[in-house]
Amino acid sequence: MFSLPLRGDAHLRPLEIWHAEEFAAHLDRAREHIRPWVGSGFVTDGIEGARGTLRRYAERQAADGARLYGIWLDGTLVGGVMFVAFDAAAGSCEVGCWLEPAAEGHGMVTEACRALLDWAFTVRGLHRAEWRCRADNARSSAVAERLGMRLEGVQREAWPYDGTRHDKQNWAVIATEWRAR
Ligand SMILES: CC(C)(COP(=O)(O)OP(=O)(O)OC[C@H]1O[C@@H](n2cnc3c(N)ncnc32)[C@H](O)[C@@H]1OP(=O)(O)O)[C@@H](O)C(=O)NCCC(=O)NCCS
Repeated sequence: MFSLPLRGDAHLRPLEIWHAEEFAAHLDRAREHIRPWVGSGFVTDGIEGARGTLRRYAERQAADGARLYGIWLDGTLVGGVMFVAFDAAAGSCEVGCWLEPAAEGHGMVTEACRALLDWAFTVRGLHRAEWRCRADNARSSAVAERLGMRLEGVQREAWPYDGTRHDKQNWAVIATEWRAR
């Protein structure tokens, strides 16, 4: 129902429980591409798994917490962005993202994240937005940098995946920096 135009024929919309079949089909295209880089709970199989993720976000949004948005390109769900965490009382949030391989390289995620950050800082008056990624996730770090975030630190060996513990980067931008960008 609500849709924010992004570049080209891309649109950002709330990703909700009624999208479960579409989300599951998208995950079939995205699963192996995103698995090393996102939380394991997000990488589900089948429609029930997809519905579980959408329900979890819906419940958290109802409590003014995390929120999930899909990116549709030419009418196909190709990825999305989210508030992994959103805490109005503490004035902080964490933003995340993912795309299926064919949708990479067009700037859609950076543009979509800008919309989330604008809302968080301008409408909701938050003070700080964070970004966390595996230190070897160059494409993700590049998004954080394009958003004007600063690398604040590295948590050593904090990201276990497939028998190896990877370093995790913590990026953030604060409201004054966002307004001055
Ligand atoms: C992280 C991820 C979403 C980044 O996708 P992405 O396509 O690189 O990011 P964007 O949508 O912002 O697009 C940036 C790319 O589009 C290009 N681009 C084209 N027009 C652009 C524009 N107007 N503005 C910004 N970038 C533009 C950029 O040059 C860049 O391409 P390049 O890196 O090949 O030079 C994607 O790699 C992914 O899904 N990875 C797996 C899951 C993941 O890591 N999620 C994050 C967990 S922390």
